[in-house]
Amino acid sequence: MSLDIYKFDESIVGVSSPDPLRFAFAKKHSAHAGGAAIPVMPDQQPMIFNELLQSEGKKTDKRCLYVHVPFCRVRCTFCNFFQNAASRKLVDEYFEALMKELKMKAQTPWAQSGTFHAVYIGGGTPTDLSAKQIEILGKAIHDLFPLATDAEITLEGRINRFSDEMFERSLAGGFNRFSFGIQSFNTQVRRSAKRLDDREVVLDRISSLSQTQQAPIILDLLYGLPHQTLDVFNQDLEDFMSTGAHGIDLYQLIIGGSAPMLNLVEKGKIPPPATTPEKASMYQAGVEFMNKHHVKQLSVNHWARDNRERSLYNSLAKTYAEVMPVGCGAGGNIGGYGFMQHRSLDKYMELMNKGEHPLAMMMRQSDFESLFSSLKAGFDSGVIRRSTLPEFEGKDCFDYLKPLFHLWEENGLVEMSDDYLVLTLAGSFWSVSLAQAAIHILNSESSSQEKLQHKHAANGH
Ligand SMILES: C[S@@+](CC[C@H](N)C(=O)[O-])C[C@H]1O[C@@H](n2cnc3c(N)ncnc32)[C@H](O)[C@@H]1O
Ligand code: SF4
Repeated sequence: MSLDIYKFDESIVGVSSPDPLRFAFAKKHSAHAGGAAIPVMPDQQPMIFNELLQSEGKKTDKRCLYVHVPFCRVRCTFCNFFQNAASRKLVDEYFEALMKELKMKAQTPWAQSGTFHAVYIGGGTPTDLSAKQIEILGKAIHDLFPLATDAEITLEGRINRFSDEMFERSLAGGFNRFSFGIQSFNTQVRRSAKRLDDREVVLDRISSLSQTQQAPIILDLLYGLPHQTLDVFNQDLEDFMSTGAHGIDLYQLIIGGSAPMLNLVEKGKIPPPATTPEKASMYQAGVEFMNKHHVKQLSVNHWARDNRERSLYNSLAKTYAEVMPVGCGAGGNIGGYGFMQHRSLDKYMELMNKGEHPLAMMMRQSDFESLFSSLKAGFDSGVIRRSTLPEFEGKDCFDYLKPLFHLWEENGLVEMSDDYLVLTLAGSFWSVSLAQAAIHILNSESSSQEKLQHKHAANGH
């Protein structure tokens, strides 16, 4: 059956507007597109998880390792990811438990049966570990896991207290990519967001790390923070260029429920963050700036100035690759199941002390997961390629979604050719909404959806 696109409302297909960049959708709800997944009953989780890790995976599949460090010394006002305030004692105790989990996971037949292509130490703020811990962690990952010869091993963090010694010991530990959250270089923006260090300190540190040419230095910038006008954002972009950093992510500010910022705005302590149309203009400025300076676009929000920057973890983890999670609050997916580990530090420590996997949630991924992943990866890269889309219930998915693509084309979001759907500037800004819309439509049109849910309910997963 062909797709009747007119039964879906504007939140799915977007509105027809002379200015789709600013007004195609009301606003972006979340940072990532998701597919339907079915929760696994808690009593079934340990058994399924053990079965997965005790069996060998496919040797040819690409894999990632994600290690989470759930501490920050200060909570930024905009952040949805903050978990625990860092103290030396807590971090040291956690590090011990983390190493235990790392070894436990590495020893499984699944971990030893394939090749890991990208490793990401994320947070929180992994650079709040000590220099020695960072080196030990890097070396342990190299010793314990079968890594590809060109594996990308990223340490995320911030420049505050990231000394020369830390940089050297990270390199000695085998880290070959550094991703620093900058958010904005502007001192007023930084102070109002509770970022540590002023503009000059940040510029100086990033410049000197980049100039060593030891490894790609990647920056995260946000757009839409309080006090961050379009002029301030343009200066942020110029500042990025002046540091010589090798790559950049431009992220639209999305304030989630737990971030303290809105409360501060309500109390009149800081001005409100930018509106969605204002953020769209900033995104446009970012894209135009990168084009003007011939900085290579790797995805809708990531650019590279250096051939060494591949952004491998981001592209693999968003596509078909399996991700082994390690740490308190880490998430991943293996063998058709998605996992979240406990976010509560106490619970995590308790389970690690007992030598148990700190699993909090397990979901059976949709039978269409590989299709959904291809769509998410395509929208994230800015191009949907017919050849990379798996079939949808025996039909060519590109053809099946054409009524939607035509509507989006009329609305200025995409340009379609025989085998490719290319996002326009507006489409790139709204790429997560477009991916969510395509996945929503396939989910709701799938004839097997009901059967699938019954089957899993009957199996207790
Ligand atoms: C989890 S943070 C870790 C980085 C590091 N702790 C730091 O502070 O720079 C990773 C990135 O998420 C992004 N991020 C945090 N809060 C965000 C929000 N509310 N909306 C969009 N992106 C956000 C920031 O750009 C940040 O660099
Ligand atoms: S932005 Fe980074 S340092 Fe700030 S609270 Fe979030 S994770 Fe922590």
